[in-house]
Amino acid sequence: MSPGLQAASLGPFPSPADGMLVDPQGRRLDYLRLAVTDRCNLRCQYCMPAAGVTLGERDEILSIDELIRVGGIFAGLGVRTFRITGGEPLVRRGVVSLIAALRALPSSPEVLLTTNGLLLADHLDALADAGLQRVNLSLDSLDPATWATITRRDGFERVRAAVDQVLARGMGLKINMVVLPGTNDHELAAFADLARERPVTVRFIEPMPFVGEGRLCGPGITGTEILAKLAGSHAIEAEPVVAGSVEKLFRIDGFLGRIGVIEGHSRTFCGTCRRLRLDARGRMRTCLYGRPSAFLRPLIRAGAEDSALIAAIRQSVAGRLADGVASELDHRRHNLDSMVNIGG
Ligand code: GTP
Ligand code: 5AD
Ligand code: SF4
Repeated sequence: MSPGLQAASLGPFPSPADGMLVDPQGRRLDYLRLAVTDRCNLRCQYCMPAAGVTLGERDEILSIDELIRVGGIFAGLGVRTFRITGGEPLVRRGVVSLIAALRALPSSPEVLLTTNGLLLADHLDALADAGLQRVNLSLDSLDPATWATITRRDGFERVRAAVDQVLARGMGLKINMVVLPGTNDHELAAFADLARERPVTVRFIEPMPFVGEGRLCGPGITGTEILAKLAGSHAIEAEPVVAGSVEKLFRIDGFLGRIGVIEGHSRTFCGTCRRLRLDARGRMRTCLYGRPSAFLRPLIRAGAEDSALIAAIRQSVAGRLADGVASELDHRRHNLDSMVNIGG
């Protein structure tokens, strides 16, 4: 067990009588980001160092059956949304059956996917049949050479094509563009234009320090600065903020879709954060910036009853800090991980 896990402070369980997960600040946690692998077929600059990251052995990663069991337990605790992440989730065999199994839970939770899109065309029909409702697609440049520089791999055309393939399948689509000053920040207007005739949400994301060792991969930029740049080309109009969401959305007159910013580094949305995370090795985090505060895999493999897993989950939630700044301060001693290990 890592020092971080041993050090997790365990307070009283504050969950209300209905058994839902509620943190010490009274925020109800009903959204789980479930990472299904720490492997990825890209090597994005902002997500991992050039040399890659140390991958778990195959048996360190939760099996699909274990993920289905854990998903059922979280659903029983009131989780209504599962976002399947990685690494790249579509490199994980069995991910489609996981999605189908989660959708088939008695509470019919929403099941969503975040993907880099490289393998999407191969799986789109099966994903739709499994009940996948919406896709968030990473696309960081519309220029093939810049895309290859950012991702350190080939495959731009496949990802670019995925945009219209997802829409043609009738699924909801958000495009994620991590804004990297000096690399792709001259493309903001071109990205916004993707929403002119398509019902997509194009989201511009502040880079966060998850390339390993708590570093940004280059200069930072804030959501406010991104919006100021966009205002030079598009008349954007703010939509009401939705509590519990990380995106600030904007409409543009005459556009079918919308644009948005995610102030992931500024952390403007923590007050209503409703997210939990489980990484591919079964470590639970109550904040993206926080250290793991429960390790479910050893419990599962030791034959723990559901009640023991629930107790560990509740303990983790009981130690949840107020926001991502407090979590980062608490975590600094251990260094922030690479995004590919956390699951985004
Ligand atoms: P939906 O709101 O369900 O569409 O998902 P999402 O936007 O949270 O998911 P996605 O995987 O597309 O992530 C988009 C960006 O938001 C990534 O850069 C994530 O790291 C970031 N993000 C997601 N959740 C959080 C969060 O709780 N805190 C912070 N700081 N960033 C987050
Ligand atoms: N900063 C901001 N966003 C990131 N993502 C991955 N690493 C970072 C980072 N360091 C985004 C990806 C993907 C989502 C899961 O997280 O672009 O869309
Ligand atoms: Fe939630 Fe942490 Fe993200 Fe803030 S930084 S929204 S507390 S996960």
